[in-house]
Amino acid sequence: TGNYIVTLIPGDGIGPEISESVKRIYRAAGVPIEWESVSVTPVLKKGKTAIPDEALNSIMKNTIALKGPLATPIGKGHVSLNLTLRRTFNLFANVRPCKSIVGYKTPYDDVNTVLIRENTEGEYSGIEHTVVDGVVQSIKLITKEASERCARYAFAYSKDIGRNRVTVIHKANIMKLSDGLFLEACNEVARDYPDIEFDDMLLDRACLHIVQDPARYSDTVMVMPNLYGDILSDMCAGLIGGLGLTPSGNIGRDASIFEAVHGTAPDIAGKDLANPTALLLSSIMMLRHMRLYDYADSIESAVLQTIADGKHLTRDLGGKATNTEFTNHVIESLPKIK
Ligand code: IPM
Ligand code: MN
Repeated sequence: TGNYIVTLIPGDGIGPEISESVKRIYRAAGVPIEWESVSVTPVLKKGKTAIPDEALNSIMKNTIALKGPLATPIGKGHVSLNLTLRRTFNLFANVRPCKSIVGYKTPYDDVNTVLIRENTEGEYSGIEHTVVDGVVQSIKLITKEASERCARYAFAYSKDIGRNRVTVIHKANIMKLSDGLFLEACNEVARDYPDIEFDDMLLDRACLHIVQDPARYSDTVMVMPNLYGDILSDMCAGLIGGLGLTPSGNIGRDASIFEAVHGTAPDIAGKDLANPTALLLSSIMMLRHMRLYDYADSIESAVLQTIADGKHLTRDLGGKATNTEFTNHVIESLPKIK
């Protein structure tokens, strides 16, 4: 019972366990959110798999969703449900921050990147064909409209989080037309944001920079075409400990879906061993998107404190705690509000 209704897609594998952890922590923190849980297990529509109407209607009505990992059905002709959701709701910008986490040691302790990936087109357009036997073409589709929409979000987001710099990542030296158009769209949007610095960087050089000195990108928001963002965001996640620790948000005009990017981990599903951190951090992005800043801050501090304290880490982080023990400790670490 609360003021906000949010769609929850627990998902497959470890999804339901980590979703339960989020629900428990939110209840304990008194977050005014009521969850509407829906299944996205595909149904057959005209012989094709589709996301059940109940799930689609719930997201459409509530406009905000939190999503666990989904298993893509194996077999020819099955499209990833993740991609289907992004396309269905036209979630044009995918926001992926990566910040070093105190208490989880990696060779880097100063990563603080924010990456925004165009989320609807590029190589993900799914347009491919065989020209003749042994020759195929895959279309990288870039439109001015989607590029501009994504760029606009990147500038607004940069301003929102106080970074005041946007860096477009591209390969316009090679992909002259497609990346050239993306770059041009960013350039045009930049003119509407005179108080935000704007620069560009070739993707390969950006990779080199980030593994050598990630701090170089800690004051900017990087924006880029779809596939580059897919790859670069995993690379950044690798610097801080992997996909179990990174949040993500798919932003659209009519709906936004916040999701953990990691997989369903079927090997540990149902054993209370999963780490809910990525879904928790995604939910914190969601709270900030909803402008529920105080709840976001207090849950974030409890999660980070639990990891920093190091005594209740799940196995993936080198500890022995169950998901339940980790979650209990997050709840105990919640700052007392009001
Ligand atoms: C991601 C994932 C997806 C992608 C897969 C699951 C289709 O890797 O969200 O980054 O390629 O975008
Ligand atoms: Mn990916």
